[in-house]
Amino acid sequence: MKMLVTGATGKLGMKVVETLLKTVPASQLVVSVRNPEKAESFRARGVDVRHGDFDLPETLTSAFQGIDRLLIISADGDNETRIRQHANAVAAAQRAQVGFIAYTSVANASESTLFLAPVHRATEEAILKTGIPYSFLRNNWYLENEISSIQGVMAGAPWVTSAGTGKSGWASREDYAEAAAAVLAGSGHENTIYELSGKLMTQEELASALGTVLGKEVPVQQVDDETYAEIMKGAGVPEFVIPILVAIQAAIREGALEIESNDFEKLLGRPITPIGESLREIVNVISQ
Ligand SMILES: NC(=O)c1ccc[n+]([C@@H]2O[C@H](COP(=O)([O-])OP(=O)(O)OC[C@H]3O[C@@H](n4cnc5c(N)ncnc54)[C@H](OP(=O)(O)O)[C@@H]3O)[C@@H](O)[C@H]2O)c1
Repeated sequence: MKMLVTGATGKLGMKVVETLLKTVPASQLVVSVRNPEKAESFRARGVDVRHGDFDLPETLTSAFQGIDRLLIISADGDNETRIRQHANAVAAAQRAQVGFIAYTSVANASESTLFLAPVHRATEEAILKTGIPYSFLRNNWYLENEISSIQGVMAGAPWVTSAGTGKSGWASREDYAEAAAAVLAGSGHENTIYELSGKLMTQEELASALGTVLGKEVPVQQVDDETYAEIMKGAGVPEFVIPILVAIQAAIREGALEIESNDFEKLLGRPITPIGESLREIVNVISQ
């Protein structure tokens, strides 16, 4: 049984492979990466490192040869690029006759109003079309998305948001990686959709949990989208990123991430890491 992880030199992918290495012999593990040199440490531990660039379909076809179970980790570009890249990966999986595809999607992908949902909707549809058994890992929201806000708070700024009372299902990247590893290496996940949400929380609730970790009150500044954009600009966020951040805040406000589910615990076989613990880890890393 050979399993392959794409994006294994990315932040999530690295954690997935580390998790797999705890229980799966390295001889069964393959990674496909666009820059094999970056995966040297995995190769040194016996993992088969293959070149697979989502923009070079022929590299994917050979990278996916002989693979039984494939985890496609979504790439990190603009929507149009990612739709094309993921389609390349799915087509290569079909050519290589892969037996199972797990894919890191987003909360409620088939109906979501999030600006990045079209990527995940298109990729899920492409996978469905192949007829290959699948599992969609609909990751809600990485807690690590909030690192800049946490840094701001640690430097004395309030928690700034235009997300109102919208709730998000934050969870640590580590937990998302463990869930993905469990699906790739486990059984009985054929044709499943998992909504991987942490406990749904408002911005105020997250800020309060951060306050407990920091031992100080974290004031929350609720603003409208325009003011949020101005504050982000003032904080030095690059111009092209600002509309993306505003769109995320608006979608959260409208409830795009309010997906309640216990799929996460089921896959982990344990409760999700408590938010305070994950926040403490982030604060420790920032403080180092
Ligand atoms: N739900 C959420 O809250 C949330 C938050 C953040 C990200 N995400 C999604 O989850 C994915 C993984 O997250 P992450 O934190 O691990 O992000 P990341 O570190 O940016 O990982 C993205 C991975 O995609 C790979 N990649 C990009 N272009 C590629 C190409 N042309 N061919 C092959 N591989 C390519 C990158 O390769 P290199 O290692 O060579 O750079 C990297 O390994 C992201 O890409 C994004 O789609 C979701």
